Amino acid sequence: MPENSHKPAVFHDIIVSKNDILNCSYESWYSLFGAHAYSRAVVLPLPQEFIEYLESDDFTIPGEKSNPNPQKDSDWDYTPPSRPDPASRFSDLHQKIQETFKSFKYIAPKLNWSAPQDSVWILPGRTMKCSSPSDIYLLLKSSDYINHDLSHAFDEADSVPDKLQYHLILREWKEINPSLEFRCFVRDRQLLAISQRDLNYYPFLEDLHDTLIERIATFFDDVLLPKFGSNSFVFDVYLPKPFTKVYLVDINPFARKTDSLLFTWNELATMSPRDDDVVVRLVTQHNSGRFATKAHSQNHVPRDVLDASMDSSKMVEMLQNWSAMLSKESDETEESD
Ligand SMILES: Nc1ncnc2c1ncn2[C@@H]1O[C@H](COP(=O)(O)OP(=O)(O)O)[C@@H](O)[C@H]1O
Ligand SMILES: [Mg+2]
Repeated sequence: MPENSHKPAVFHDIIVSKNDILNCSYESWYSLFGAHAYSRAVVLPLPQEFIEYLESDDFTIPGEKSNPNPQKDSDWDYTPPSRPDPASRFSDLHQKIQETFKSFKYIAPKLNWSAPQDSVWILPGRTMKCSSPSDIYLLLKSSDYINHDLSHAFDEADSVPDKLQYHLILREWKEINPSLEFRCFVRDRQLLAISQRDLNYYPFLEDLHDTLIERIATFFDDVLLPKFGSNSFVFDVYLPKPFTKVYLVDINPFARKTDSLLFTWNELATMSPRDDDVVVRLVTQHNSGRFATKAHSQNHVPRDVLDASMDSSKMVEMLQNWSAMLSKESDETEESD
């Protein structure tokens, strides 16, 4: 057996600078490429008080009345004293969010880098579609991805900026067909690879292979390359029918924490650029089972649990249902033994 056949795999280093991370902050790329963004957006600088509110354990949602209809049949007749409205600490911001709702009927919010896709279970429609400031606060406060922006944005970077301004990005909600969202990987100013972003199997994408490369490569050469400040980055685009226009959804750091989707980071860090030949990867009929889980679902909590956590009688009802379900399951197992 050759001596080196058991050499351990070495993960290729991916160097990310502080400026690479800053260039991918929404307000930074939006100021360069706003005309190509998928939707209009209002960018609001965040006061320290709002960041403290997001980081705190205070789950009072501004503008909500405390317990307006206490349950008569509940064993709990204790009504907690109402807490001060947290929005009084960031009233300017609150007002600007309210004003934005006058021009955008619905809003998809995010902070500098991340959208709260992991906390959509908390809104009735289970999407990021917000119709009021409280929807926005609820989504942001429940999201680990938002917490990442506040505490870990520079974890993989070579240094940390001395001062950082956070922004709330209020994107006008526009329906999006997830099958036509693509993530594009750029290393050393070369467009290397394109992956489908939503990992379900969409048979019609195979016929789009050449159109995708042509449209996205042209967008990269004509729009992004001349102006963007980093040599390596990952950009997300949306290409709705009739596939003539490319819309920019986001720009992310070329770093392991950005989801590499149908590629691996080691591949992306080491693959050699092929002249005019970008690698496009799609979910096929053969590998579709591997990606069958719903994106971000590891962070979701069942709606029943959430509702019950806010209402003691629902909690009792839910536990009774669970125990009935469990005893039914164990009866069935015994019968089949
Ligand atoms: N204006 C919008 N209206 C509705 N949905 C949107 C809008 N912009 C983006 N989205 C959806 O939100 C998803 C996440 O947005 P994105 O900015 O890429 O978040 P992140 O950087 O956290 O991954 C996108 O993949 C897209 O499906
Ligand atoms: Mg992103």
